[in-house]
Amino acid sequence: MNYDKLDKRARKILQVNDRGLYTVPTKGLYPYQWNWDSAFCAWGIATYDVRRAWAEIETLFTGQWDNGMVPHIVFHKQAIGYFPGPDVWNVPRVPHTSGITQPPIAATMARSVYEQDKHYGRVHMELLYGRLVSWHRWFVKYRLHDGMVAITHPWESGRDNAIDWDGAMANVDGSNVGEYTRRDTAHVDPEMRPKKEDYDRYLAMLYFSRDCGWDEVEIAKNSPLRMADVGMTFLFLRACRDLLHLALELDHETDEIQGWITTLKGGVDRHWNAERGHYDSIDLRTGEFANSLSSGSFLCWYAGVDHPQMLAHYERIMGMVPFGVPSNDPAADTFNPKRYWRGPTWSNVNALIAIGLAEMHHITKAEELRKATQSLIAEHGFFEYFDPYIGTPEGGDNFSWTAAIWLTWASPHAKGRF
Ligand code: GLC
Repeated sequence: MNYDKLDKRARKILQVNDRGLYTVPTKGLYPYQWNWDSAFCAWGIATYDVRRAWAEIETLFTGQWDNGMVPHIVFHKQAIGYFPGPDVWNVPRVPHTSGITQPPIAATMARSVYEQDKHYGRVHMELLYGRLVSWHRWFVKYRLHDGMVAITHPWESGRDNAIDWDGAMANVDGSNVGEYTRRDTAHVDPEMRPKKEDYDRYLAMLYFSRDCGWDEVEIAKNSPLRMADVGMTFLFLRACRDLLHLALELDHETDEIQGWITTLKGGVDRHWNAERGHYDSIDLRTGEFANSLSSGSFLCWYAGVDHPQMLAHYERIMGMVPFGVPSNDPAADTFNPKRYWRGPTWSNVNALIAIGLAEMHHITKAEELRKATQSLIAEHGFFEYFDPYIGTPEGGDNFSWTAAIWLTWASPHAKGRF
């Protein structure tokens, strides 16, 4: 295998998807700036151009709302053929944005860029720091329930049609959304995308929040879906730790962030589903566990949380699939190796899980996962996601975060850590 060539190809993908000061996830399917995609891109771009990496994150924060929220999409310029576009979200600000958020990994990725660029990067980090704090504050103010992070729309989780939301989605009425034309299925095989009944419900949730003027208090009370997302809680806990590290580095006060970390640790305990023996999401409308062992649960190590039962599940699942952590348990009835977050393997999630495993001293497991992801990408390409059994590429091609993950972690030339 010619790894130099693959390194070059990964850089080329990021350059081709570069729109000047931000990077699109892939051409066509996702023509705007996505929140956590951009954070991954910054991490990847920093391997060859640290200044451009700073620009990536700074451009994302041009979309930050006055209340601190950083939206899941920033619509810097009109792109034909994306649905739901800025006209549907109808957020009265410039640049136009969506009205929901996404996994807050920006603090973590900004820290990694900063670690590589301490001297010149200090001014970037100083400017970004306050913005990161205000985003985290927004989460704490509007989205923490008993220390767990709540989502109001599955798209916020970054794991759009994961099985975690099945129970709660069944209670969302999608029958009144009218006619619309999806664009995603024009780019990708519909079998690899969410179904129409899911899409109807996604729109119903979007319309609810839009029609109440994105009022977080009203959304908390009455939105059709509110879930404590185990993946979000782990990623936010991790990000708060990284923010704390940055606060110390930059001589900022740390009590507030330390308080968040303590609260989130309590939330982690509440996510434990004792009956099923794993971390789990919770439907906050009904108080019931989702009873889903999805890839979100395995982000525990990345948050600095270990548990022997999670390791046992991990070993069982990794004994079933050669290419890394599937987005759903292969033993579950809902498992589908093709359909997006209901089975396929995602290289970015593999990276976060493996980095967590390594930090928690499960070095062999971490290295095995890295090697599996390395051969997955080397043999099957820089796709959005993959069949966990046979590695068949799925979703969009020339995918930015897959390229970023290659450069930072999966390539034999990568540092393989933060
Ligand atoms: C899909 C993914 C989400 C990602 C976006 C852009 O919606 O589920 O995680 O951010 O595509 O790549």
